[in-house]
Amino acid sequence: MSRTTDVVVLGAGVAGLSTALGLAATRGVLVLDAGAGSTPWAQGGIATAFGADDPQAHAADTMIAGAGACDADAVRVLVEEGPQRVAELIALGGRLDHTANGEFARTLEGGHHFARIVHAGGDATGAEVARALRAAAVAAGVEIIATSASGLLRASDGTVTGVLTIDGERIGARAVVLATGGLGYVYRASTNPAVVRGDGLALALRAGAALMDMEFVQFHPTALFTGAPGEIQEGQLPLVSEAVRGAGAVLVDAAGNRIMAGRHPLEDLAPRDIVAREIDAVMTRDGASHVFLDARSVGDFARRFPTVAAACAQIGVDPATQPIPVAPAEHFLCGGVRVDHRGATDVPGLYAVGEVAATGVHGANRLASNSLLEGMVFGRRLAAELTLQLPFDTASPTQEPQAVALGEDEDPQAVRAIMTRYAGIRREGNSLAAALDQLDELGEGPLATVARAVVASAAERAESRGCHWRSDFAQTLPNGGRHHVVVRLDENGRPEVEKTLKSA
Ligand code: SIN
Repeated sequence: MSRTTDVVVLGAGVAGLSTALGLAATRGVLVLDAGAGSTPWAQGGIATAFGADDPQAHAADTMIAGAGACDADAVRVLVEEGPQRVAELIALGGRLDHTANGEFARTLEGGHHFARIVHAGGDATGAEVARALRAAAVAAGVEIIATSASGLLRASDGTVTGVLTIDGERIGARAVVLATGGLGYVYRASTNPAVVRGDGLALALRAGAALMDMEFVQFHPTALFTGAPGEIQEGQLPLVSEAVRGAGAVLVDAAGNRIMAGRHPLEDLAPRDIVAREIDAVMTRDGASHVFLDARSVGDFARRFPTVAAACAQIGVDPATQPIPVAPAEHFLCGGVRVDHRGATDVPGLYAVGEVAATGVHGANRLASNSLLEGMVFGRRLAAELTLQLPFDTASPTQEPQAVALGEDEDPQAVRAIMTRYAGIRREGNSLAAALDQLDELGEGPLATVARAVVASAAERAESRGCHWRSDFAQTLPNGGRHHVVVRLDENGRPEVEKTLKSA
């Protein structure tokens, strides 16, 4: 073993850093930073209930957006512990925006019935959260190294006992925490940077853990359309925050007709799965590659949304005078590695937190601006758990652990094309079956493995719910939200799917 520590955290986003910071005083902790993930790109803000709002109202909006599939206990944890975590962020030096009279500036986004979203730098909340947490973690003695995991180390009884890095270093640990984010790169276009490849999901599967709710892949309604008309978008797309709609912008088609008027009581601020579907329907109807977000009524646009304004300037659009071209793009994985409310997977020694984890808090569709909050709340809970108990003692290893390697994909671009074509906003049973057949030809690499988990789960859920829309099963079944779809790997490395009853 090249070195050992108490806890290795894979990922330096909001969830990983929150976990590491919470452990710094009591445990040796090492963070492997694979490069900036989704956190610094998060725009809108942090949803949190305080003042005139209350956690129960935040819980209600979270559960409505989650379309009947949320775990009520996980939601309660999120909304009740959230305000305290935000207060801690501020105490650590996180600089949130204020109004002219000194109150926190708060905004609306899709699915919220109350302006409870605090933000930083206008629309640069994630970058500020990442900066503040990282500075605090480093000051507290957390070691952060620039590398990533190529495998997990496992003892003969299956316990995870460390990490193998891409540089060939073996790091022994009493606990390994996956905080690797979502799976944006599994699709051709995403708001996530390319480093977000679903590696943590593949590692968990290889180690014997279960994934849950993998069919619930969220598409953000308004990624900036940066291509030529008719072109297929590729790579990381700039986000146009929902907070722009919260400030009054509306979605229109090429003729200027409102898209969301009359489609939902909250119109342009309906939950994002609903808005993304309506946009997709208009694009299909019109044979268009994008629609428009008309933000001309939003005063002082460049000051309130500097990140969006800069991205628009790159494509020659001035939101103060011109509608912004937008289209949906993959954004967030609502499911992930199945964990309890303290981050434990079913594999001893292996934990997961943040977007890579499935606590059930998001159900079938995450409420806007609940993800930074999730990372802070569940990161802190996991740190508390690992402060109280660690699974085993590396001081007396019984046997040299074996590495479970991630491996390499034979044809990553083929995987991405299949997922984009068959497992996007709209799915259909025969196409999902064709996708599984095609993915089966593409080997056992991490992207192909994660893609199969999504497709197999989507094929299993024969209904439409939240961000899982089946054109062949358009209805939401009365009892469909009462079960989860769970995936493990069988002995041949193929996804094995089962349904389990939801706990709450
Ligand atoms: C946004 O600013 O629209 C994204 C926020 C989120 O994903 O919660």
